[in-house]
Amino acid sequence: MAIAYLNGQWMPPGEAKVSVFDRGFMFGDGVYEVMPVYDGKIFTKAAHLNRLARSQAEIDLAPVMSAEAWSMLLDEAVEKSGEAQALIYIQVTRGTATERSQIYPDSPPTVLLTVTAFQPKTAAQIQPLKVVTAEDIRWHRADIKVTSLMANGMIKNRALAKGFDDAIMIRGDKVTEGTASNVFIVVQGEILTPPKSQWLLHGITRDEMISVALEAGLPLREIDFDAAMLAEADEIWLSSTGVELVPVGELNGQIVGNGLPGPIWKQVFNGFQARKRLND
Ligand code: PDD
Repeated sequence: MAIAYLNGQWMPPGEAKVSVFDRGFMFGDGVYEVMPVYDGKIFTKAAHLNRLARSQAEIDLAPVMSAEAWSMLLDEAVEKSGEAQALIYIQVTRGTATERSQIYPDSPPTVLLTVTAFQPKTAAQIQPLKVVTAEDIRWHRADIKVTSLMANGMIKNRALAKGFDDAIMIRGDKVTEGTASNVFIVVQGEILTPPKSQWLLHGITRDEMISVALEAGLPLREIDFDAAMLAEADEIWLSSTGVELVPVGELNGQIVGNGLPGPIWKQVFNGFQARKRLND
């Protein structure tokens, strides 16, 4: 059963309401997290809570509670929901100002948490994506997980309108990331992914995939690459909490590899599934 926690109270998500003066609504002034629950247990919880704390610090929003308190609240939420496979969504905004002002109010933050059922796709269910490249028009702090996702939404929806499943963004001569995912490519057997910087979200799934690949002894480098290298890659993958690791079968109308999920994708995807089963 889906459940929400809003400022200390539990309720069905449809009943959770915030003020029209909430800065999250007025200015998109907030940060968020999305984390997975597998078999009733939160996966990579500490990493997500660390990133939430970092996002808050980067936007000058004081911590709302300790990591321990968050951790207990999240466990309680999962237990109350009774969901074994789920996504947890956390949003912390700068709270409610009584007037529309750029000056930060002295009011407490708004804390929202939801747990909703979510079943990740199995290897057999995964279809390689058709992806288009697009200019990365976002602000200069794509490393902060902010709720204002205006550019991400525009780029994704324009890709959908042209018949693609998603877009991979390019800033200057560098590939940055997907609209809601990180990017990996395979070139001559080596896995490459752009290094962490202000231009992309430091994905928790990205970290997990890197660690799975290295553990399996696969060659991997965190290095920038351009659109031409992306176009010539043998495999392209997108990673995120929701999709885990999904292969790209077509880029800008050109087949990637043979258009099917690649052998290195399979290895890393399977390694990640094994890691999920351990989850402790
Ligand atoms: N998005 N890059 C962007 C722009 C993202 O929005 C996301 C995740 C990622 C991958 O991060 P992670 O592996 O930590 O999920 C990369 C979440 C899932 C969302 O907005 O729903």
